[in-house]
Amino acid sequence: MSSLVIVGGTSGLGLEIARHYADAGHRVTLTGRDADRAAAAAKDVGGDTTGLALDLAAPKDIGPALAGIESVDGLVLAAVERDVNTVADYDIDRALRLVTLKLVGYTEVVHALRSRIAPDGAIVLFGGLAKERPYPGSTTVSTVNGAVAGLLNTLVLELAPIRVNVIHPGFVGDSPYWRDRDLSHVIARTPCGQLATMADIVDATVFLLGNRAVNGVSLNVDGGWLLG
Ligand SMILES: NC(=O)c1ccc[n+]([C@@H]2O[C@H](COP(=O)([O-])OP(=O)(O)OC[C@H]3O[C@@H](n4cnc5c(N)ncnc54)[C@H](OP(=O)(O)O)[C@@H]3O)[C@@H](O)[C@H]2O)c1
Repeated sequence: MSSLVIVGGTSGLGLEIARHYADAGHRVTLTGRDADRAAAAAKDVGGDTTGLALDLAAPKDIGPALAGIESVDGLVLAAVERDVNTVADYDIDRALRLVTLKLVGYTEVVHALRSRIAPDGAIVLFGGLAKERPYPGSTTVSTVNGAVAGLLNTLVLELAPIRVNVIHPGFVGDSPYWRDRDLSHVIARTPCGQLATMADIVDATVFLLGNRAVNGVSLNVDGGWLLG
């Protein structure tokens, strides 16, 4: 992996993945919606890291935004804009934004970069276990994370020999969105007795990007929570 693109790399899991690869001496491009915030995150990560602005919810602008990237060995799609939505109180605009971001936006990034991804390169998409374990307000999140599993299948065939895999995290206990919330009910149902951490997610990403034989895998990183 000499050149990495991390979409959604300004915070949370994407930022930790960017940090890992930058620390190991790789060239990293991380993205967020805002150029200044992306540049600040890149500076903070250090090494050979560049920040780039793109909005996955505006998919027609993604191609031009990625025009400056020359080559890609590893692509990570980790962005999310959480939509708290229920069927009873359905906010169509919020739902459309997340559906566009994760399904059309993720796909358009791959479309825009596909000719620049090395044949032995790899892609990791982020879904999430809300697809199987909904929580109040997760209607759109559960929907899009379920659909990422379908997107995986078609990308594996269409992009061959480039490998594509998905990580479905459970609740990542030290990630910015969850770290100040009470997740004791989740821990109680997690067989290994502890939540996944951002370091666990980085470790899983490195495995999926690096292992030459792993392709088309949806990997749950949840401490066994789905079985609890
Ligand atoms: N954390 C968890 O426990 C957990 C659990 C299950 C699944 N996941 C999945 O794991 C992935 C990472 O989650 P996270 O918790 O690390 O997220 P996060 O901390 O909220 O970070 C989200 C990232 O997405 C970027 N982003 C937001 N809206 C965007 C848009 N419209 N276009 C482009 N980029 C956008 C943000 O950049 P800016 O704010 O700078 O624009 C930021 O870099 C997501 O796909 C999420 O669904 C996470």
